[in-house]
Amino acid sequence: MYKPVLANKDTWWLGVNDYETDLFESLWPLPQGVAYNAYIVLGSTATAAIDTVKGPYLDDYISKLTQALNGRPLNYLVVNHMEPDHAGLISQLKSRWPSLKFIGNAKTLPMLKGYHGITENIITVKDGDTLDLGGHVLRFATVPMLHWPESMVTFDTSTGVLFSNDSFGGFGAHEGGIFDDEKVRSRWEDEMLRYYACIVAKYSNIVQAALSKLKALDIKNIFPSHGTLFRDDIRQVISLYDKWSKCEGEKGAVVVYGSMYGNTRRMAEAVCTGLSSAKVKDIRLYDSSRTDPSYILRDIWKFRGFALLSCTYNTQLYPSMEAICSKLLNRMPKNKVLGIAGSYSWSKGALTALQGFAEKIKLMKVEPEVEVYASPTPEDLMKCCELGKNLGVSVNE
Ligand code: FEO
Repeated sequence: MYKPVLANKDTWWLGVNDYETDLFESLWPLPQGVAYNAYIVLGSTATAAIDTVKGPYLDDYISKLTQALNGRPLNYLVVNHMEPDHAGLISQLKSRWPSLKFIGNAKTLPMLKGYHGITENIITVKDGDTLDLGGHVLRFATVPMLHWPESMVTFDTSTGVLFSNDSFGGFGAHEGGIFDDEKVRSRWEDEMLRYYACIVAKYSNIVQAALSKLKALDIKNIFPSHGTLFRDDIRQVISLYDKWSKCEGEKGAVVVYGSMYGNTRRMAEAVCTGLSSAKVKDIRLYDSSRTDPSYILRDIWKFRGFALLSCTYNTQLYPSMEAICSKLLNRMPKNKVLGIAGSYSWSKGALTALQGFAEKIKLMKVEPEVEVYASPTPEDLMKCCELGKNLGVSVNE
């Protein structure tokens, strides 16, 4: 898309698609690319851009920005977030429009200096402060840790557009249209949840506080900094965020295993059989060595139950299972049901480590814990099946 897109009255989308970055934050795969959304609001007396895009997309962004401005100067840049995927072109805007004023909060100031050497022409705003552009009054609200301390959202009181920053964002480039009513829901929802699980989930309690804060606003559109723009039924998308931040999972379960020679995989398959016997239909079985953690985290967030099974490696958890446990402890999901099992040969270790994980993560745990020596016997597999069945019963409650 080489042209700005009119997204609401006097409000243009200036975003870009990135198909070249393989890993978001050098961590999370982007098989469908990612979009950096940026915007401009053209008031009758002043113009205000809302964020920029990542540095390499200078030409694309400036082309759209100048087309939207149509000869007018850029007066303000609202800096909702200083992470370089949105603040990458701040210095270039300052060079092009030397009298440009930057709008941020107290926590934005050191970052503007640190990343771009900017110490002047800054308007520092607090919660509830407004900026009148003529026909469009922008109101600012801080949302610290969504996803950095300086993060804020901007609400256009005239159009009801919430420029929501990383909140409500998703992985995935725009494939044609940029709005929810121009896309298939499953296409954006999966990547939005993966983004949530990877980037936002750690701050779920803060999301709940932010949702309460936003309740007072008459929001008509939600325009995030990544992914789909919402204008069709924003109640649906707010309800998704409410559900994810409360960790309200669907009826279904994820079974994740780490296995070197297939014995722990057979245990995991038996857990799945048990889940199925308890009438759980949505079961996702993942080999932690061959599935990127972002997909495992996404589905753990999506469903009510999960089971972790690991062989012992050098007396400890198998490395790819250790990585999953560490990422879960960083995010501390709630309201999930957990099952655990381990295997060993010349030294125990995996089950003990999973027991330690279960204590720390403080989720409801179903019995039995299963520990298997060498290759699972039919009795061992029956115990794994029982674990799956009990997990399934809890998931379906
Ligand atoms: Fe998309 Fe936290 O930056």
